[in-house]
Amino acid sequence: MIALILIGGTGTRLRPFTCDFPKPLLPVVNRPFLEYQFDVLKRHGVRDIVLCTAYKPAVFHRMLGDGRGRGLRLRYVHERRPLGTGGAIKNAQRHIQQTVLILNGDVLHTLDVTAFLRFHRRNRADLSIALTRVKDPTLYGLVETEPSGRVRRFLEKPSWDEIVTNTINAGAYLFEPSVVARIPPGVHHSLERALFPHMLEDGARLFGYVSRGYWMDIGAVDKYLQVHLDILGGATRLPLPPGPRRPGLRAGSSVHLGRELTFDHEGCAVLGDRVRVADFARFSRNVCVGADCEIGKGAALEDCVVLAGARIGDGAVLKGCVIGPRCLIGHHAVMSAGTALAGGSTLRPFSQF
Ligand code: GDD
Ligand code: MG
Repeated sequence: MIALILIGGTGTRLRPFTCDFPKPLLPVVNRPFLEYQFDVLKRHGVRDIVLCTAYKPAVFHRMLGDGRGRGLRLRYVHERRPLGTGGAIKNAQRHIQQTVLILNGDVLHTLDVTAFLRFHRRNRADLSIALTRVKDPTLYGLVETEPSGRVRRFLEKPSWDEIVTNTINAGAYLFEPSVVARIPPGVHHSLERALFPHMLEDGARLFGYVSRGYWMDIGAVDKYLQVHLDILGGATRLPLPPGPRRPGLRAGSSVHLGRELTFDHEGCAVLGDRVRVADFARFSRNVCVGADCEIGKGAALEDCVVLAGARIGDGAVLKGCVIGPRCLIGHHAVMSAGTALAGGSTLRPFSQF
């Protein structure tokens, strides 16, 4: 089976970070996000992957190439104008001769692909949608099913008074080639707002498979931070990066550690390659620091993400925030919960956010 990954969105809700990287390549615990999806696919024997690009395609080619180094075969299909989720699949139709797995490129999901395919075959479905349960379904596509799993209704981004269930579209589908044939060619087309509702009206066999694994759409800044905290805190059950460790610490290669550092034994600090940490710095709960960062003397970091090449001044305090790549945080500056700083920004000493 081949997989198609939709990676053409512009990542508006993840600005400013998507100015530096397209969303699917944003580092998540210091790895390009798509690598997590590749791991899931490889675990289930899927190595032939078609990437549907529209935004910053050259960056994908440069970072991922033909996939050989990762044990994959990667091919690219580019849209000159973004064609929407349905149009992107239509644009890749020449690669789809059999049942195909389709993934949104911004979801961290420990989907059991093998069980999902078994479910699809058992139901003789035209299209199966993986479902997950969330607290706030208004941000997603609501999917109502019969007890048999057959989809009764699909409602994209419902308002609160339309909520009848908390099961949503998890952004993973199995399509038969006949479904792709229904999408009009060369025009903008939405799976969620056009294809799914139209297929339901026509009586097609759409089934919803409830996936019980970890699930998170990383498409907004709070979710991007949360997915880091979940990986570091063990909620995803995904492995942490390898490397030298002591309680509360995973350090990459050539990391320099100063004297009298504090690491939280209940949490985890991941330090990328060549990070330099000055004396007396403190790491609480879960913290991820990208490659080539410098952490100043006595700086205190808690539940935060610092992207590659940033310099954190002496005595600075970072809590519940995301610091973009190459930022300069002045000494004793404070970034508090819910804040984020665009790549390359400078924060004056003693300023508070
Ligand atoms: N190639 C291509 N072209 N890809 C696109 C385009 C396009 O024009 N538009 C969006 N995508 C990709 C995005 O890059 C992303 O990986 C995926 O399609 C979904 O787009 P989002 O913009 O992230 O949609 P969403 O998060 O608001 O909603 C979708 O995902 C939810 C689950 O996370 C919907 O599918 C919802 O129904 C679903 O619940
Ligand atoms: Mg999304």
